[in-house]
Amino acid sequence: MSRIVSIHSFRGGTGKSNTSANVAALLAAQGRRVGVVDTDILSPGIHVLFGLDQDRVGHCLNSYLWGQATMPEAAYEVTPPALTGGGRIWLVPSSVAPQDIARVMHDGYDVARLGDGFRALVDALDLDVLILDTHPGLNEETLLAIAMSDALAIVLRPDHQDYEGTQVTVTVARKLAVPTMVLVVNKSPAVFDEDEVRERVEKAYECRVATVVPHSDELMALSSAGLFAVEFPDHPVTDRYRALAADLMA
Ligand SMILES: Nc1ncnc2c1ncn2[C@@H]1O[C@H](COP(=O)(O)OP(=O)(O)OP(=O)(O)O)[C@@H](O)[C@H]1O
Ligand SMILES: [Mg+2]
Repeated sequence: MSRIVSIHSFRGGTGKSNTSANVAALLAAQGRRVGVVDTDILSPGIHVLFGLDQDRVGHCLNSYLWGQATMPEAAYEVTPPALTGGGRIWLVPSSVAPQDIARVMHDGYDVARLGDGFRALVDALDLDVLILDTHPGLNEETLLAIAMSDALAIVLRPDHQDYEGTQVTVTVARKLAVPTMVLVVNKSPAVFDEDEVRERVEKAYECRVATVVPHSDELMALSSAGLFAVEFPDHPVTDRYRALAADLMA
């Protein structure tokens, strides 16, 4: 049985794309066939983490949404050469061309097509798991992604600006009856006690915290130029991503 997993946050820059890409890498390292879709059509970015060269990209998610390609035709294998474990990763990127982003904003597209595309991708590539990286806030494609998901991870920083928005997503996901919903507290400063953060956040949202990921200078220094979990397999941050990956597949 394949699983659809969404990674979301209400605010931007919380760490969604890094979380999505590293969870994908760790699941592939366990031998799984993993698909990743960049549903952040307005500000795509996860292709950078996978080192997908724009010159290689012909069709992308936009082409699919505009009826120019099938979803599998817009998927590119991005399995890192250093990955062991036998799994594979495919990415459906979104276009970074300004005219494509402008067209989405201006003309929109048929959101319902997204769901059909996710299913077609799972079937064509025989995926064990499909990970959906999302745009911050709640737009139509994010709502659809959440509604279709078997599991949802909501990423937040231990920052008061993140708190209200996170409650919005939690409430919406509950209404959509997502089977598994967990919180991921990311960029937790070293001076914060991890257990205390977990307890406070769980109490505030009445939602389980899958993991508390510390702020990491090494991750920041990698600056999205690669997959942290592949480059630093024994780092405490990778351990947290690993715990999250297991949680989302349970
Ligand atoms: N635990 C962490 N410690 C330090 N830096 C981090 C951590 N997690 C993510 N970052 C950094 O935070 C920045 C934003 O990360 P990322 O792009 O994954 O967030 P995002 O939620 O996808 O952003 P957007 O909303 O713009 O799509 C990146 O520079 C990344 O390296
Ligand atoms: Mg992102």
